[in-house]
Amino acid sequence: MSTFRIREPFADAVESAVLPRLIRLSGGLYAAAFQLMKLLPAQFVLRRAMEQGLLTERTTVIETTSGTYGLGLAMVCRRLGLPLILVGDPAIESPLRRRLEDLGARVSIVSGQAVRTGGIQQARLDRVERIRQRHPDSFIPGQYDNPMHINAYGRVAELITESFPRLDALVCPVGSGSSSTGIAGFLRMVWPELILIGVDTTGSVLFGAPNGRRRLRGLGNGLLPQVLDHSLFDEVHWIPAKDAFATTRRLHTDHTLFMGPTSGASYHVARWWAERNPGATVLAVMPDEGHRYQRTVYHDAWLGREGFAGDEVAKEPLDIAHPGELGQVWSRYPWGRRTRAQVVEERATLDAR
Ligand SMILES: Cc1ncc(COP(=O)(O)O)c(C=O)c1O
Repeated sequence: MSTFRIREPFADAVESAVLPRLIRLSGGLYAAAFQLMKLLPAQFVLRRAMEQGLLTERTTVIETTSGTYGLGLAMVCRRLGLPLILVGDPAIESPLRRRLEDLGARVSIVSGQAVRTGGIQQARLDRVERIRQRHPDSFIPGQYDNPMHINAYGRVAELITESFPRLDALVCPVGSGSSSTGIAGFLRMVWPELILIGVDTTGSVLFGAPNGRRRLRGLGNGLLPQVLDHSLFDEVHWIPAKDAFATTRRLHTDHTLFMGPTSGASYHVARWWAERNPGATVLAVMPDEGHRYQRTVYHDAWLGREGFAGDEVAKEPLDIAHPGELGQVWSRYPWGRRTRAQVVEERATLDAR
């Protein structure tokens, strides 16, 4: 009788989900679809910090996030047995908060008052600092500043180079910038000609556009993160929330891929690029699944109430001469690997006018 033997070690739930599935959508258009992309940097940064002796089982991990990075950290800290405190703002969704707390994270919400006086980002950073003073043995991963978050994506680049003989373009939604900077940075070592296309949204300052209200969350930023390397990008697109939501639904109906709205934004740009470049291979990064958005992006009544009803979207981007003149429609700018210093300088010039 043959004996069936289980091969050990099996990957745990975190390890089994850190890498994306590579999916062919149509022609030369592919998706790198993550269950939860932020699991990868959360796992990488905490493991490296442990190896380097920067944290032990008694160290409290503290981070400011109300989004998917918090969930990634909560899952990894649960597995590693590390105490975790997350500082969020009052807008945190209650199902996410329950999930974080189920995983053992303490969720500290900055008050509406703090938000009114100093701005949300500053209120959160102040709270992190106060918590850190009460926990002398603590570790702050720092998703916006710590370059380890970029290095985490070496594994994704490896998977891509093993799977594609060649890639012409990579489309990435940009929030902190660590995934786009990490994946493209490593890929350029193999394919220096690779075109990197960043996907941002109206109201985000990442690529020099004016600050404003952002309805599409998960990508875009009100600050310029240290981990974002602007000089890797060839082209930048700004996708309004309505277009992102409609194309997220379309990704589901066209390809049965059930993803979040930043994936929809990525799909929108990659599809347009693929149509304009027949024969080329383009890969769209898709950071999370659709479950969290069942009551919003996947809910017609919510879309109607919020002014996002209808599935008609712009077929072409508007080419703009400068990010400073960005309006409310899908727009495109030939970034041309400009540097962060150029972004800061031009912003200062515009603000001085
Ligand atoms: C759903 C989602 N999409 C896109 C991004 C952008 O990724 P990055 O922060 O690596 O730029 C994030 C970042 O948190 C995210 O949560």
